[in-house]
Amino acid sequence: MPLDGVKNVVLVLSGKGGVGKSSVTLQLALALSLQGKSVGILDIDLTGPSIPRLVGLEDAKITQAPGGWLPVDVHASSLSSTDTPELQAQAQPSRGSLRCMSLGFLLRDRGDAVIWRGPKKTAMIRQFLTDVYWGPTDFLLIDTPPGTSDEHIALAEQLLTLSTADPATASQNNIPRLAGAVLVTTPQAVATSDVRKEANFCVKTSIPVLGVIENMSGYAWELVEGRMEGEDSEDYEEEQEKQAVEQQEDTRLLVDRYKECWSYARFEEFARTLIGGVESTAGS
Ligand SMILES: Nc1ncnc2c1ncn2[C@@H]1O[C@H](COP(=O)(O)OP(=O)(O)OP(=O)(O)O)[C@@H](O)[C@H]1O
Ligand SMILES: [Mg+2]
Repeated sequence: MPLDGVKNVVLVLSGKGGVGKSSVTLQLALALSLQGKSVGILDIDLTGPSIPRLVGLEDAKITQAPGGWLPVDVHASSLSSTDTPELQAQAQPSRGSLRCMSLGFLLRDRGDAVIWRGPKKTAMIRQFLTDVYWGPTDFLLIDTPPGTSDEHIALAEQLLTLSTADPATASQNNIPRLAGAVLVTTPQAVATSDVRKEANFCVKTSIPVLGVIENMSGYAWELVEGRMEGEDSEDYEEEQEKQAVEQQEDTRLLVDRYKECWSYARFEEFARTLIGGVESTAGS
């Protein structure tokens, strides 16, 4: 059965490209995993699948199993150990697994541009929705292509045949619950009323709105301080190179490095709210 084992589906939408949808999808996925949830990311942005690059697995290949395509592991789950009192004392909250599926994995060359039109695109998205074997997954996050066109409506309608926004129907029929959509926007897009279009899209397709993320709304001064002062651009470049080398030498898992990221606290709170909301309204 399509989406077998998936408990909740969350769509990540944006009216415009480049507003940070893929970054938001990944950060929410990492934050949910750090709350002990098993997470899948389905990247159906056919024109620019960026999840493989963001998770640092551009060369990964997907395999076909009897149940469907197998998603690629980003990290496995880790259970808190309760074996001995010492281990109990050090026990960390358990971390859920993170797996992802992207058209990027199917492209022979990562430079391949996919220029598919209407029906072929819809067929590919349909296959992506139905033919991936996710197995037990608490949250499946779908990184969608930018826009709210008819094609998106077709996608949402198909999703609504595989899942339901009604928690009681979901649990009675053992199908995924469509928890809702996260709308990503930027201050500029807000000004051009893009977010209203996204919200209308959700109303038209009966998908609950989980929240709006206004990305890039603040200004991280320290990140560009060297450049802003404009006096030591060489120092700034040196610093950037040093940081890039340090990042390459850092062999820790992405999820462990993410805990040190300044934005983690925000996404942690978001993940907690999302989990709380979904669990408190779950159908019995
Ligand atoms: N809060 C932020 N601060 C600074 N840079 C950011 C932020 N969010 C995203 N970016 C950067 O902006 C660029 C676009 O982000 P991302 O790829 O996540 O957007 P997208 O909406 O998925 O784009 P597309 O429409 O191409 O799929 C990336 O280079 C990303 O690193
Ligand atoms: Mg993207």
